[in-house]
Amino acid sequence: MAPKIYINGKLYDKADAKISVYDHGVLYGDGVFEGIRVYAGKVFRLKEHVDRLYDSARAVYLEIPLTPKQMAEAVESTVRANAKQEGYIRLIVTRGAGSLGLDPRKTSDPQVIVIVDDIVMYPQELYDHGMEIVTASSIRNHPNALNPRVKSLNYLNNIMAKVEAIRAGCHEALMLNIKGELAECTGDNIFLVKQGVLKTPAPDAGILEGVTRGAVMELARAAGIPVQEPALTRHDVYTADECFLTGTAAEVIPIVKVDGRPIGNGKPGPITRQLREAFHELTRR
Ligand SMILES: Cc1ncc(COP(=O)(O)O)c(C=O)c1O
Repeated sequence: MAPKIYINGKLYDKADAKISVYDHGVLYGDGVFEGIRVYAGKVFRLKEHVDRLYDSARAVYLEIPLTPKQMAEAVESTVRANAKQEGYIRLIVTRGAGSLGLDPRKTSDPQVIVIVDDIVMYPQELYDHGMEIVTASSIRNHPNALNPRVKSLNYLNNIMAKVEAIRAGCHEALMLNIKGELAECTGDNIFLVKQGVLKTPAPDAGILEGVTRGAVMELARAAGIPVQEPALTRHDVYTADECFLTGTAAEVIPIVKVDGRPIGNGKPGPITRQLREAFHELTRR
């Protein structure tokens, strides 16, 4: 079935789903978004995603023309209209059409867009045998410039690091912050396991607080695995027993090589496998 795309309360065929070229989302990447999964016809952690969307909007002075409840209903109804059992949702709010200048006061009509499409994951063999990543030379945005906690439409910072990943023959790149500490990957959060302890950079390191990250931390705690959010460096990565990434599209994916160095024994580790299975189970609840 051809996708039906929601724009401001109406559903359009893909070919007719259009917004103004004067929209500041197009002109400046001025807007916010979410990526969400549908598992067995149910939207995964919708409240968390809607809350994060409203926090992102608030942080960039963007007023969303719907209440969070109306936004959640817009997402649910678009999923129903597309009759998707397994899929990926892209929820977008742009600043709206304005003048060619930066001034957000000159914009008038924020566009609320919901796209429901198929999910594209990493190849299965990377989940089975683990993935390789490299550290990017492009650092993650400084929180005092554009805070990575804001999921804005301006993703060039991440795209620059993604280009480095691709040029190195990898799917993902590790991004550091200005202090040289681990931040996150271009579209995923990073976790390490050392002597049975799960470690991941804190929000202060300059990261998006991933919904999957939050779910995996809950699952780990419930399983009695200690969880810490210390400052981490590449030394911690190279000497970790296990490494994995989390993200809405990626779910939980093992990392077995970073910058050409094998992590642990170079195979997906037991805690990674345990959390990946627990996460799968959570999505089916
Ligand atoms: C920069 C960045 N970090 C982390 C994540 C993972 O977040 P989530 O688990 O909410 O998808 C994403 C994807 O949304 C991302 O774009």
